[in-house]
Amino acid sequence: MTLSADATDSETFVTDFADAVLTGLSCKAKNIPCRFLYDARGSELFEDITRLDEYYPTRTEIGLLGAHGNEIAKRAGKSCAVVEFGSGSSRKTHILLEHMKSATAYVPIDIDDAVLHEAAARLEQEFPDIPIYPVHADFSQGIELPQEIGDAPRLGFFPGSTIGNFEMDAAADFLASAGRLLGKGSSLLIGADLQKDLDILLPAYDDAAGVTADFTLNLIHRINRELAGNLDVECFAHKVIYNDRVGRIEIYIESLCDQDAEIMGRQFSFDVGDHIHVENSHKYTLPQFRELAREAGWETDQVWSDADELFSLHFLSNP
Ligand code: SAH
Ligand code: AVI
Repeated sequence: MTLSADATDSETFVTDFADAVLTGLSCKAKNIPCRFLYDARGSELFEDITRLDEYYPTRTEIGLLGAHGNEIAKRAGKSCAVVEFGSGSSRKTHILLEHMKSATAYVPIDIDDAVLHEAAARLEQEFPDIPIYPVHADFSQGIELPQEIGDAPRLGFFPGSTIGNFEMDAAADFLASAGRLLGKGSSLLIGADLQKDLDILLPAYDDAAGVTADFTLNLIHRINRELAGNLDVECFAHKVIYNDRVGRIEIYIESLCDQDAEIMGRQFSFDVGDHIHVENSHKYTLPQFRELAREAGWETDQVWSDADELFSLHFLSNP
């Protein structure tokens, strides 16, 4: 059974996007929060990224879930409700639920309605005995879990290193609020990408086929589609740097020429070289991530990582 609990209606999501774009492009350091990368097209492009040779996180985390699925299920307990933050295609959830067939419910939460409901419908076919309650919401805002899941123990699932897309302080706040949402006695299985050589890291965010560039620049198309914009996508480029001081990938949209554009009837100017900051992707060391979890009130019970230490999966508990 698939039920939908939309925390906010689509009009609110459009207003949120409009506010973020108009405000972010009026700042001295132009920026648009990364959650807006995910409309239906953005989610498709992200799924393409996950299948690129250069993008090691997805296949590495899938390997860890397959190798340690039994132990994860044992730690989580048989009858728990799985709550996933930023579920996207739920491809990894399939592997998790294969090991947790007696889960009492699955609650995927995502900001992109299209990917959320498509994935829920697919999982419903694959796991007909697990009730699925999709929640269309921004997980960085206060959300409520569907009442239908009752008071079964909860396993939060936050794969992909999406936690790395938060600023460090916001990551700690998010983990603390996930702890409150899931409740005392809950667990959280969370993926965190690890620091590594730039010759592996940079191509993962700037692939040869240009799929990541298309993902980033879809934001320009989205502004044109949804906010009556007339930005010339040919005059913008995807730009990636590694910020060594903070330990993160930073992604920008750079203007290739001096240009003027209109969005919702407002004028914006871009000089050549101007850039719009659209995403951060933090890379952690294992001690750093353990400390982040501890600060947010979680205990680390187990950490798994691949032989090359590219990616890590943490099983946390909420005492
Ligand atoms: N969990 C999947 C997808 C990760 S991509 C994986 O590991 O492969 C990040 C996902 O989080 C996308 O599906 C995106 O739509 C969603 N997302 C990003 N920001 C969000 C937010 N603020 N609230 C809810 N979902 C968000
Ligand atoms: C979803 N998130 C964890 C991805 C990442 O690796 O930071 C988003 C992404 N952006 C470009 N490529 C992948």
